[in-house]
Amino acid sequence: MKFKAFHKLSYGLYIIATELYGKKFGYIGNTAFQVTSTPSQIIISSHKNNFTTSKILESKKFSISVLQKEVNTALIGVFGFMSGADIDKFNNIETTASVTGAPIITDSCVAWFDCRVVNSFDVGSHILILGEVIESDVISGEEPLTYDYYREKYKMLAPKNAPTYVDKTRLESETVPEPVVKTETEVKPEPEKASEDLSSYTCKICGFQYNPEEGDPALGIPPGTPFADLPDDYRCPICNAGKEYFGKND
Ligand SMILES: Cc1cc2nc3c(=O)[nH]c(=O)nc-3n(C[C@H](O)[C@H](O)[C@H](O)COP(=O)(O)O)c2cc1C
Repeated sequence: MKFKAFHKLSYGLYIIATELYGKKFGYIGNTAFQVTSTPSQIIISSHKNNFTTSKILESKKFSISVLQKEVNTALIGVFGFMSGADIDKFNNIETTASVTGAPIITDSCVAWFDCRVVNSFDVGSHILILGEVIESDVISGEEPLTYDYYREKYKMLAPKNAPTYVDKTRLESETVPEPVVKTETEVKPEPEKASEDLSSYTCKICGFQYNPEEGDPALGIPPGTPFADLPDDYRCPICNAGKEYFGKND
């Protein structure tokens, strides 16, 4: 079996969220499919170990916020690589609610769906949760983010709880036909990076080292991002100190 064949399936990326007893929970999901039009129903595949899954099943509601192409990558780091069991993911995140009360994320999103759970199916590692769409809206004219663009631009994979998870070394060992090369006149020059300085930086508070070659995928920072190109609100993943507390290594 070639795992790279699964990369030829097309998906979007979403924040799937719910609310239970006044608290909000959510995760990044690529699995959200419209399965019927009358009534409008969408199914999601939610890992049993995701903190959010049991909250959706108990609250019987979930929202799907459709991420935009040029996404705030911190959202992917927080919602896709961290757990609501450890942090409040909605701290400083603007949300709104529609009918069910499931939180809709407004930052970096182009559309949303508000769903009521009508059924669920145990498929092993994941639970398929069927929702009837109660309300939906388009909130921006930006293009939506696709999984393909996420892989190509950010060079990021998915964590173990994603239905699409494949071990990185297995993927790297597979050979597949190369993409069709464009003719010379069609090749566009690579956009220049704001900074080419690939020096590492150390957090003066806790000693954490930021290495541009590795980036900080857990926070949505792709490999190859120079320190100078980190967002102004970048914070040390260990002690949460701001960029100003980092010093350049010789
Ligand atoms: C690109 C990407 C796609 C993902 N797709 C799914 C998915 O479809 N279903 C799922 O259960 N988890 C998926 N995940 C994993 C969850 O987002 C991740 O396990 C998250 O930390 C769970 O958060 P929680 O424990 O707070 O619920 C995906 C993560 C990424 C980065």
